[in-house]
Amino acid sequence: MSSSPDITKTFIQGIPKAELHIHIEGSLEPELMFEIAERNGVSLPYSSVEEARRAYNFSDLQSFLDIYYQSMQVLLHEQDFYDLTRAYLQRVSSQNVRHVEIFFDPQAHTDRGVPFETVITGIHRALEDGERQLSVSSKLIMCFLRHLSAESAMETLRSSLPFREWIVGVGLDSSEVGHPPEDFKAVFDEAREHGFLTVAHAGEEGSPEYIWQALDDLKVSRIDHGVRCVEDPKLVERLREERIPLTVCPLSNVKLRVFGSIEDHNLKQMLDLGLCATMNSDDPAYFGGYMDENFHATQEGLHLTRGDIHRLVKNSFQASFLDAERKQLLSDELDEYFASHA
Ligand code: ADE
Ligand code: ZN
Repeated sequence: MSSSPDITKTFIQGIPKAELHIHIEGSLEPELMFEIAERNGVSLPYSSVEEARRAYNFSDLQSFLDIYYQSMQVLLHEQDFYDLTRAYLQRVSSQNVRHVEIFFDPQAHTDRGVPFETVITGIHRALEDGERQLSVSSKLIMCFLRHLSAESAMETLRSSLPFREWIVGVGLDSSEVGHPPEDFKAVFDEAREHGFLTVAHAGEEGSPEYIWQALDDLKVSRIDHGVRCVEDPKLVERLREERIPLTVCPLSNVKLRVFGSIEDHNLKQMLDLGLCATMNSDDPAYFGGYMDENFHATQEGLHLTRGDIHRLVKNSFQASFLDAERKQLLSDELDEYFASHA
């Protein structure tokens, strides 16, 4: 199936966009992984970049997470986190991404002896440089690993407080099934007391019940993924009525076999239900693409219209944690782009 004639790759590239669901560790391309491994004297389980890419063949979320946590072990020094973040920003700025909200997984580093400060300082410095040099604005969201305990999450929250002003919100990620949002209620209560906004992965592999818990127990502003919400009409009604944004990641869902193919994905259905769905890449180094590749594959697979694409991008500006002024500026820029490419 070819792209509709007026929605070319060039058209998609030029759209001013925002990304709200990207794990910075999931943007570690094999080339950079090898470079950092070499300078840090870390050995990898692959003999080449090609062999690493061949291993990126997943059967579910856990099979991906096993490789994801292993690969990030090359990251040891502040400069490694800087280089990782810088490479992502350079890549997305070439796709005209104007704003990003980046997840990071501190426990995946502190648990192997890398200090919290090392991780966040490297990421933060790259985000500041990205804003100045690449005109990509950004926010940072700290995720708790839900396969670890609530006590570990609480400890992580407390160790983040000296860097409070660098972090806009907290999230919940890693192995979903068997680790319900309600287990983290006390941590999220304390995070909100410190002024953090909250988001959570829910309804990626887990049931709609996990989305209810994320809303009611964790008081989230957005749901990450949330594609299983369509199984529960009452939940769809709630998400639509309250305009709760869903950060959908189509290529990720296909790679992790949430859907059998891009043609089977329910993003178009979510839009047609009036949900505030947005387009995102999740872990682009592992799932076959960044923002433009997600737009392109989904447009082709689901026959998205220009109106659908305009809606998806507008939703992401509105759903972002930006102030009202920059939201409006980016939204106006988007409308002008579509008007001038009619
Ligand atoms: N961590 C990185 N990517 C993830 C995903 N897709 N789901 C849950 N945790 C993650
Ligand atoms: Zn994710």
